[in-house]
Amino acid sequence: MSKVTVVGAGNVGATVANVLAHKDIVNEVVLLDIKGDFARGKALDSWQQAPIDYYSTRLKGTDDYKETKGSDIVVITAGIPRKPGMSRDDLISTNAGIVNSVTKGILKYSKNPIIIVVSNPLDVMTFAAYKASGLKDTRVFGMAGILDTARYRAFLATELKVSPKDIQAVLMGGHGDTMVPLPRYTTVAGIPVTEMIEKDTLKAIVERTKKGGGELVKLMGTSAWYAPGAAAAQMVESIVKDENRIFPCCAWLTGEYGIKNMYLGVPVQLGKDGITRKIELKLNKSETKLLHKSADHVKAVMDTFKKMKIA
Ligand code: NAI
Ligand code: 2OP
Repeated sequence: MSKVTVVGAGNVGATVANVLAHKDIVNEVVLLDIKGDFARGKALDSWQQAPIDYYSTRLKGTDDYKETKGSDIVVITAGIPRKPGMSRDDLISTNAGIVNSVTKGILKYSKNPIIIVVSNPLDVMTFAAYKASGLKDTRVFGMAGILDTARYRAFLATELKVSPKDIQAVLMGGHGDTMVPLPRYTTVAGIPVTEMIEKDTLKAIVERTKKGGGELVKLMGTSAWYAPGAAAAQMVESIVKDENRIFPCCAWLTGEYGIKNMYLGVPVQLGKDGITRKIELKLNKSETKLLHKSADHVKAVMDTFKKMKIA
């Protein structure tokens, strides 16, 4: 009996709605965009796919927050994506205002939703939504780690000529080039990846992963949407089904890993109340150093956000 709102009906938002409908796990998906008819069109197109692909999830497009009333989960994808040559951080001046106003619009009609932020720069936009919402931090978090880990897993699957299904991995840190893939926590059907691959090849894959978003921007002139949309939908699924699956997500830290008062990617469990547990891995010295370097980078972007004084 869930209602999910996806704000932003662009590449990522429309994909989240469409993937979610295919999972057939919620009653209704509302797609909201500032360009009202655009969301109506995307939602209608997705609904017309239902008789072909057999799902019952109703899709509705709108530009009016009233239609989002009583949403259990909200996925925020509104904002601009980057163009070649831009970093995710370059988007802050435009996207911070958008995420702030979208969050307030949502809270007007839904009292205690779970909010999943996708807009970039991700870690800081998640903070912006948290601040604007006044919700508990366990109910506001961001999507990045599932996507970044999926890229890492896909590169490994290609290299090792195995199914991506068999690759499990953890990746932490901010959603940027300082992210921290963790080979020590990477397995291929339970076998440590280090036993299956040359050190230098693994190192090259880690480096490619860190720049994985940029690789797609170069290829397409805008950022990715299939994997990002599927990643956000997977988070919704774990919440709706109260699966308590473990995913790397952008979560509010209160001293975990020696880091506090900021959002950063760490492994968490996702259930019906949002983040039900943050998992603290026993990182070694060099992994901890990389995580703190990533946190420092996010902190610098956060300082820029704070100086903007967006209420
Ligand atoms: P897009 O340009 O295709 O879609 C964005 C949509 O947001 C547009 O339809 C636009 O009209 C809408 N929008 C803008 N302001 C709005 C407002 N105030 N209220 C409602 N809707 C509004 O962009 P795309 O590719 O869908 O990316 C969306 C965001 O997600 C970008 O910031 C991008 O960087 C980010 N992203 C984050 C990822 C992650 O891993 N966290 C992965 C991929 C994209
Ligand atoms: C990505 O990593 C742009 O953050 C987006 O594809």
